[in-house]
Amino acid sequence: MIIKSKSAKITYKIAEKLAKELLAVKINLKKALVIGLQGDLGTGKTTFIQGFAKGLGIKHKIISPTFVIMRIYRPGPKNNFYLHHLDAYRISKQKELLALNFKQIISNPKNIIIVEWADKIKKLLPKKIILISFKYGKEKNERVIEFRIPKSL
Ligand SMILES: Nc1ncnc2c1ncn2[C@@H]1O[C@H](COP(=O)(O)OP(=O)(O)OP(=O)(O)O)[C@@H](O)[C@H]1O
Ligand SMILES: [Mg+2]
Repeated sequence: MIIKSKSAKITYKIAEKLAKELLAVKINLKKALVIGLQGDLGTGKTTFIQGFAKGLGIKHKIISPTFVIMRIYRPGPKNNFYLHHLDAYRISKQKELLALNFKQIISNPKNIIIVEWADKIKKLLPKKIILISFKYGKEKNERVIEFRIPKSL
């Protein structure tokens, strides 16, 4: 599915809606839910994650974790999911992530892991993940967002 977003606010809203829908279908997984984001600098990945966190009921302000690799947010009031926001941009060795207990994190169904620059750590991610790619559109504030959601996760 491809959606054109005309503003940062719309990208935020789309993400908020996706998070709410995911909660509504009561995802019942054996492992963590992993969402990979792809797209050039400034295409809206962090903006999307801010909206997604809002949809999960997280009040904490989401900032880009570029210098810390990963930030973890406690669940919002209506669910039990721990959102893990990862930025793989600066990861050069997979070891860096494994040192953060990443294997354990992706095996825990209480976790939702959303990864900027998911391509960089592809080998460490499960095969079936929600993949969302961002591209610049024709107009200044336009972004083309493509969703690839596997039939079964
Ligand atoms: N339609 C849009 N969707 C998302 N962001 C938009 C849109 N139009 C303009 N913007 C602006 O583009 C910028 C997107 O920045 P953001 O940090 O979300 O990108 P990013 O993909 O996370 O970048 P990086 O790769 O550096 O982490 C923001 O300044 C935002 O206001
Ligand atoms: Mg970002």
